Amino acid sequence: MILVVGAHGMLGTDLLALLGDRAIGVDVAEIDITSPESVLNFVGTLKPKVVINCAAYTDVDGCEGNIETAMSVNGEGVGYLAMACRDIGALLVQISTDYVFDGGKGSPYSEDDAPCPLSVYGESKLAGEMNASFCPEHLIIRAQWLYGLHGKNFVETMLKLGTEKSELTVVDDQIGSPTWTVDLARAIIALIDNGCRGTYHAANAEYCSWNGFAKAIFEEAGLEVVVKPMTTTALNRPARRPHCSTLDCTKLAGDTGFIAQPWRSALRDYLKLRPVHTP
Ligand SMILES: NC(=O)c1ccc[n+]([C@@H]2O[C@H](COP(=O)([O-])OP(=O)(O)OC[C@H]3O[C@@H](n4cnc5c(N)ncnc54)[C@H](OP(=O)(O)O)[C@@H]3O)[C@@H](O)[C@H]2O)c1
Repeated sequence: MILVVGAHGMLGTDLLALLGDRAIGVDVAEIDITSPESVLNFVGTLKPKVVINCAAYTDVDGCEGNIETAMSVNGEGVGYLAMACRDIGALLVQISTDYVFDGGKGSPYSEDDAPCPLSVYGESKLAGEMNASFCPEHLIIRAQWLYGLHGKNFVETMLKLGTEKSELTVVDDQIGSPTWTVDLARAIIALIDNGCRGTYHAANAEYCSWNGFAKAIFEEAGLEVVVKPMTTTALNRPARRPHCSTLDCTKLAGDTGFIAQPWRSALRDYLKLRPVHTP
């Protein structure tokens, strides 16, 4: 049996739906990963074969002012899960992020590239990766730019703004691969089912800037919005973000045969499934 932790979040909800009766899902009410007792009791009693940790403190800018919470949830909490999984011989699957990289490489990052986070969030997620690796059976999956039906995300923010404004300014100097949580969930399941271990990168194929992504969202949704460029420096957010942190996913494809679709067709699939909200 598979235990999905952080199951009420954006990725956790889609993952649980795809896993069906292979998995059960819990969130902070059942397991608070910052509490070693909570984690060891729950995991030790249930004895799952696999624990997938989707729980995290994901507010990238919020992490800058809440270092203790970020390290506690994203770093130490993963360590407690690793201990619990080690004790029962389970596989720990830890979801991580492109923000462990500084974005200066100039080409897609492979699993062997040295991390160098720019933000507290990235530091805390890197601590989580290190802690996950204390479990002998571990799988670390780095993803990026997630959106899905069950959480706050860039697509929903743009669609809301697009009904309110005819012109927007969006950063055009951060490059990545927007990734639909359903496609990431498929990649995670492929890695588990193929017995993979170690670190993998998983994202939708091809890449764009946030500005290009916003334009595509409006085109696909049939909204007429002018999207102007701006720089990350001008946006002046609390957390620094990588300039270009695209992920090389060839190891995932080679070891599982799973190739995620291009981000634009994933966006189309998402928009088809998304409930239409009438004002
Ligand atoms: N979102 C992205 O763009 C992105 C990109 C790359 C990687 N990732 C990684 O992908 C994973 C899933 O992200 P997501 O966007 O689906 O996250 P999310 O929607 O924020 O969901 C995280 C879930 O974890 C729960 N949680 C928070 N603290 C917890 C604790 N102490 N114990 C147990 N559960 C706790 C949250 O509950 P509350 O809502 O009640 O706090 C929430 O249900 C995370 O590891 C994230 O770092 C995300």
